[in-house]
Amino acid sequence: MRKTARKSRPVVRLAIVGAGGMANTHAKAFQAIPGCELAAVVEIAPARRETFAKTHGISAAFAGVTELLKSAPVDAVSVVTPDAYHMRPSRSSACGQACT
Ligand SMILES: NC(=O)c1ccc[n+]([C@@H]2O[C@H](COP(=O)([O-])OP(=O)(O)OC[C@H]3O[C@@H](n4cnc5c(N)ncnc54)[C@H](O)[C@@H]3O)[C@@H](O)[C@H]2O)c1
Repeated sequence: MRKTARKSRPVVRLAIVGAGGMANTHAKAFQAIPGCELAAVVEIAPARRETFAKTHGISAAFAGVTELLKSAPVDAVSVVTPDAYHMRPSRSSACGQACT
């Protein structure tokens, strides 16, 4: 976690993985939490990835968790992929690197 310069409130930098219908609800909920910064989105579909980033004002967008972990320092991930595709991005995020 980081601290803002103005106040010493901790900032949690969060990435959303999977930018489908439910992710929009997650994004709005997380952005309403003081100290939570929506820092990145990971989505395999390029058009959806770009639209989601633009809609929610997210500056970093990636096609996979591996790219996220290499490029963007985040404190937490919210995995909102379909049920059958939760495990790999969750494990990779927990490991801090690609896990099979
Ligand atoms: N609690 C609730 O009320 C509620 C309601 C709806 C859905 N859900 C859950 O939310 C999750 C997502 O549902 P949804 O309706 O948003 O699904 P969705 O199909 O609309 O969106 C899923 C997105 O994940 C992307 N994706 C798939 N694999 C990926 C990967 N490896 N890396 C990055 N992106 C990937 C897809 O391209 C898609 O854009 C599911 O687990 C579902 O059960 C919960």
